[in-house]
Order: sequence, then structure tokens, then C-alpha cells
Amino acid sequence: MYEIKKVKTIPFTDQKPGTSGLRKPVAEFMKPNYLENFIQSIFDTMDGGAEGKTLVVGGDGRFYNRRAIQVIIKMAAANGVSRLKVGQNGLLSTPAVSNIIRKYQLHGGIILSASHNPGGVEGDFGVKFNIENGGPAPEKVTSRIYERSLKVDRYMIAQGPDVDLGRLGETRVLDTTVEIIDPVSDYADLMEQLFDFKAIGELLTSGFSMRYDALHAVTGIYAREIFVNRLGAPEESLRNCDPLPDFGGGHPDPNLKYAAELVKEMFSDNAPDFGAASDGDGDRNMILGRKFFVTPSDSLAILSANAKVAPGYQSGLRGAARSMPTSCAVDHVAKDLGIPCFETPTGWKFFGNLLDADMITICGEESFGTGSNHIREKDGIWAVLFWLNILAKKRLSVSRIVTDHWLKYGRNYYTRHDYEEVDKEGANRMMEELNSLVRTLMGKRFSDKKVLLADNFCYKDPVDGSKSCNQGIRIIFQDGSRIVYRLSGTGTKGATIRIYIEGYTKDKRLLDEDTQEFLSELITLSREISRIEEFTGRKAPSVIT
Ligand code: G1P
Ligand code: ZN
Repeated sequence: MYEIKKVKTIPFTDQKPGTSGLRKPVAEFMKPNYLENFIQSIFDTMDGGAEGKTLVVGGDGRFYNRRAIQVIIKMAAANGVSRLKVGQNGLLSTPAVSNIIRKYQLHGGIILSASHNPGGVEGDFGVKFNIENGGPAPEKVTSRIYERSLKVDRYMIAQGPDVDLGRLGETRVLDTTVEIIDPVSDYADLMEQLFDFKAIGELLTSGFSMRYDALHAVTGIYAREIFVNRLGAPEESLRNCDPLPDFGGGHPDPNLKYAAELVKEMFSDNAPDFGAASDGDGDRNMILGRKFFVTPSDSLAILSANAKVAPGYQSGLRGAARSMPTSCAVDHVAKDLGIPCFETPTGWKFFGNLLDADMITICGEESFGTGSNHIREKDGIWAVLFWLNILAKKRLSVSRIVTDHWLKYGRNYYTRHDYEEVDKEGANRMMEELNSLVRTLMGKRFSDKKVLLADNFCYKDPVDGSKSCNQGIRIIFQDGSRIVYRLSGTGTKGATIRIYIEGYTKDKRLLDEDTQEFLSELITLSREISRIEEFTGRKAPSVIT
């Protein structure tokens, strides 16, 4: 029924994977041979080739997901993959893929997603490759793939009928076993091991109200099974839980700007007790209380401080880690718990080594990503369940839990200002300028603030000793406040400059200030030091988080 075809091709020069795989407008991916070249480059650079390998593939359901999966199935078969697990209807969240790789000891996985970027015909598409520990491919793997993509001159593909993605069970394509799997059950089982489902179930049926917004992306199917079927939450707890190819026209990004409907409801007078959302591929999360937003940095600190309430973390944490721009809130908790706290460059892959070496249990980023050693990706639904577990045990409101936390550890006021789609050249010049100036800031005074440390962050991995430099400009002041600058590695148009601003207070009278106001002096200073207006022509950021 199937025949192997060898197709001649010429390389593309723009297939360099960024921090989260190869991400481009879907129109690029639809160019003849574009997807095929990249997939062949992944197969060609696997140790010993793709032959005999076991892999999993699935995506967030965006436009082109199903088409791409058919191509990958046929290419996997023609390249000799022995078993390919495929999420039913082409769906699998990023955390679910990570779990499946680990649980079934596969060689790796391919995730089709551009994460929180919009989908649809006009939107973005992406391919991520995860390795056998379940985590994103490290730089040495992605650069091998990129090198290969510059030379690839043929790809192998099976010719024959498409596989029915809707029907569970095994079929054969050439010598490959293609197994259509339930995308949810393995993941839901894992969650049931980590969290106290009995306590959460009692909470959710006791009059406590929650809203979970999947933003029409992949987590809808996970939310329905976990929150409604297994935990007994009423159906009305779910919002936008049917995955759509264009995510209903929205950005599947769980933040105050793009999860606007949910935010509106959570800030209304009859708001539910708890609100949460996740992104396109299910690795990000946003946590809300009634009229209350929990910053991701605070969320990481609060989960760390209360971890023991969850059965999976009963024996405490080995250590914690946060990305460099993430606020230092978790550092205070780690200190109190007497555990190490690591500071890594932006991007989940840096946590992988620490998790594999059992040096940390929990980790997170300011960009709505939190996770632990249960898999090797950040995990949206996991974070939501962790919060529900804490709420079920404490029976306090979200805002009370957060303010109690600040009373104990102090508050790290935190904001991120994004300048999106700015001119690339201007952005690069600004960063170069900052880079040459940053050392001269050491010891300098700006009104009442003295610079304690100023550098371009360079990370030495404590596990393998590898160095990752040029990870962002940081200016740390004596009073614990910080300014950080970096360029985004995930944007697809122009450049995005991110400025992260943080201030710290232990003063009990100053715990309830407006964030932008509390940080206003630092914000002005961050613009002056970088001369951002001069370099970009922008007076103000396009997004403030
Ligand atoms: C962004 C986030 C970063 C996250 C990445 C992938 O990257 O800032 O924390 O790991 O998306 O989700 P950036 O665009 O800043 O390079
Ligand atoms: Zn994502």
C-alpha cells in the first residue's frame, strides 16, 4: 500500500531553531519542502539515524497541524522509525508529550506548535523537538539540526493513504507501527499521582467556583477530563475549551492582555473564586483570584513555600530555580527553606540539566511558566492543580494567600515592559551600546540607589560546566531592585525588546501599592540608561505585564 519515495530538495537558509524550536508564519511552513526539509534534518541528526527509533508526535491543534502530522507519519515511516505514537486528532500538549516520552522511554518527540503565537491561515506555526529526557533539545542538538538543514538535499517519504487520526489503535505504514493514542489519559494519571484529587474534588463541589480558560487551544481537552470528569467541577467552570485551528481568532496567550474575557470576569463584582488560563500548547499558566492577579514570579515563590501540601512534594524540595529576569521572590523562600536557588538564562532547557541531576524540584519563569521534576517542560495545568491543592488545604482566598506570603517574605514588585516589532537594527544597536556601557555602571549612584552589580549575564551550567553568555544585561542595586534588558528570541516580526523592572520591600505599609507607581522611578531610569526612545523611536512599551 505504501512506497518509499526519495525527493530531491534544496536547503532553506532560515531554519535555525530558537529557544522554542523553529517558529515561522504558517505560510513559510506551507512552502514546498519547507517542513519536509526540517523534519528530515531532525531524522538525519539523530544518533544512529531515525531507524529503529520510537517517537511521539502531536500538536496544539492550530491550522496545518493535521497536514503536518500526516507528513511526519509518512516521513517517519520512510526513515525507518519503528514506533510512532500520535495524539488522537493530532492533539497533544507540550507537557503531555514530555510525559509520554518519559513514561514510555521513547527516543524523543515532535511537537507542532508556535506556543502562544496566533494561529490560523495568517498565524504562526512551529516545530519543536524534544529528546529522550522529555525536555527540549539542547543547543548542541538544535545546532546540529540547523547545520544539517543547510545541506539537506533529499528527503524520504512514504507514498500512500493518510492515516485516520481519529481512530485509536495501531496501524502500519511500511514497517512502522503508528499508534493513535488518547492524548489525555497518561497526563491526567500523572496529575492524579502528584495532587490530592480528593481534597480538590471536595473544594470544587463545596460552592467554590473556578473558571479555566483554554483560549480555544489544546488544554481544553485536558481541562474537561481533569477538572470536570475526574474532579467533578461543573461544566460552567470551563471556558473556550474546544480547540480551534485559529484559536477563535485570539492569541492563545494567558496574560492580562490576551485572556481579556477571563480577566474581565475575574475582576467583575460576581467574580468566581479562582481563575486560570493556559497557552496554545499548554505549557504556560496564568493564575487569578477574585479581582486579583498573581504574578508568575510570585506564583513560583508561593508554590515553593507551600509545596508540602501536595502529595507529590510531601517530602519537600531539593532546590529551586528561576530564569534570570524572573523576580527574586523565590530566592527568599529558598533561603528560608535552606535549599539552593539557581539563576539560569531564559528558556526552559536550562532547567533540564538541574532537574536531571536532581539538584532542583521546582522551577519557573516570569513569562507565565512554572514546572517541576515531574516532566521536563513547564506545565500549565500542573500549576493550576497545584494552586487548587493549596486552596483546598488552606481554605483561604487567593489574595489572602498572596498577601500572607508578602507579609512573611517581603514583596518583589515586578513588571515587564515589551517593545514589540521594533526595528531590528535599532534594537541591536541599543543592546550593543548597553553591553559596552554596563561595566561602567558598577558602583554608580542613581539618586538613592547604588549599583551593586552590572553585567551581561553569563551562565555556567553547574552540571556540565558549559557556558551560555550574552543572556541579558542586568543592573542590580543594593536595595534588591533590578533592571534587566534582553531581546526576545521567539518573536517572528522585527525585534522585541524586553525590559524587566523589579523593586523589593519588606515594609508592611508598602505591600499594597500599585506596581507601576511603586516602580515608576526605576522605569524612568531604565529608559534613560538604555536610551530606548533614541534607538527605537518608541516613547512607551507596547505591552506592560
Ligand atoms: C519567551 C519568554 C521565555 C520563554 C519563551 C518560551 O521567550 O520570555 O521566558 O521561555 O518565551 O516560552 P523570549 O521571547 O523572551 O525569548
Ligand atoms: Zn507554550
